[in-house]
Amino acid sequence: MPTTTWNRHHVLSLSDFTSAEYDTVLQTAASFQEVLSRRTKKVPTLQGHVVANLFFEPSTRTRSSFELAAKRLSADTLNFAAATSSMTKGETILDTAKTYLAMGTDIMVVRHREAGVPNAIAAEMDRLGVRVSVLNAGDGQHEHPSQALLDLFTICTLIDSNHPRLELLKNKKIAIVGDILHSRVARSNIWSFIASGAQVHLAAPPTLLPKLFAEYILEHSELTTEEFIISSSPSSPTPQLFLHWQLEPALQDADFVMTLRLQKERMTAHLLPSLREYHQLFGITRTKLQLCKSNVKVLHPGPVNRGVEISSELMDDPEFSLIQSQVTSGVAVRMALLYLLGSGKS
Ligand code: NCD
Repeated sequence: MPTTTWNRHHVLSLSDFTSAEYDTVLQTAASFQEVLSRRTKKVPTLQGHVVANLFFEPSTRTRSSFELAAKRLSADTLNFAAATSSMTKGETILDTAKTYLAMGTDIMVVRHREAGVPNAIAAEMDRLGVRVSVLNAGDGQHEHPSQALLDLFTICTLIDSNHPRLELLKNKKIAIVGDILHSRVARSNIWSFIASGAQVHLAAPPTLLPKLFAEYILEHSELTTEEFIISSSPSSPTPQLFLHWQLEPALQDADFVMTLRLQKERMTAHLLPSLREYHQLFGITRTKLQLCKSNVKVLHPGPVNRGVEISSELMDDPEFSLIQSQVTSGVAVRMALLYLLGSGKS
């Protein structure tokens, strides 16, 4: 395992992650990826630890991935699903968390449809003075750090499988396309990609962009293609975050294209004329990828609306699609996060 210091007690957001922390996660995940390629895919690292998956919102891959990651580290796992829990009898979120605390939980993995719930549970654990770590597994439209870290790991290992690290993405062009407004994944991705020195190009119809970005577009309607929003960080003097309301300039010469699910369950208004038109304008297809670098790769956090944000054919094309690798990487990255949070507690 890499011998790096890790002082973080909770993982709630990537907004304050340092380059050293990103690299620690990437290198630790690479070690676990190696473990997962062995015949015996299990290590005793978190033996005796309890990991509770508190999923107040439906999930397939994130919940299963955290569960498998905890099991591969030999932790005991507890799974909670709101629909079959005492919440249906009126128990509050914090009381539910305290119930798991009383059973000796060391790490709580929390997903909730409201932004801020993992932070609230973490604050309560800190207030109680207990050494429980909270890992945000997706909160409302806020953040989804473990998904962004597995996306980062998937891309970095593609470039250098032996030594995945943040600097590999410097000056790469990454397009994030689709329902950015509702996407906690995009919000976490933007932090990690900007930290790496990559150029991040967001492309969406204005109705699917965060309000601030959409207002910017309306104010600058004379602009035809793009304008940068965040110019730079002190370490990077060039613009890094670009905004597009047409797909083509975002795809032009892109190294990676991340397409996002249209989150119909979060839409409170009719934001699109039709799914067919959306697919025509913003759906990623093999033909549209011709604008990108010839070795471009496509990512999607899943679940996918086939034929809407990405063509079914492209999704299954191993030459371009990293979607299955993302799922596979997820276990190693979540093992890394659980290990880094849990190993200090022994
Ligand atoms: C994402 C999520 O739940 O935020 N999925 C995931 O965790 N793999 C994206 C989505 O739901 O579209």
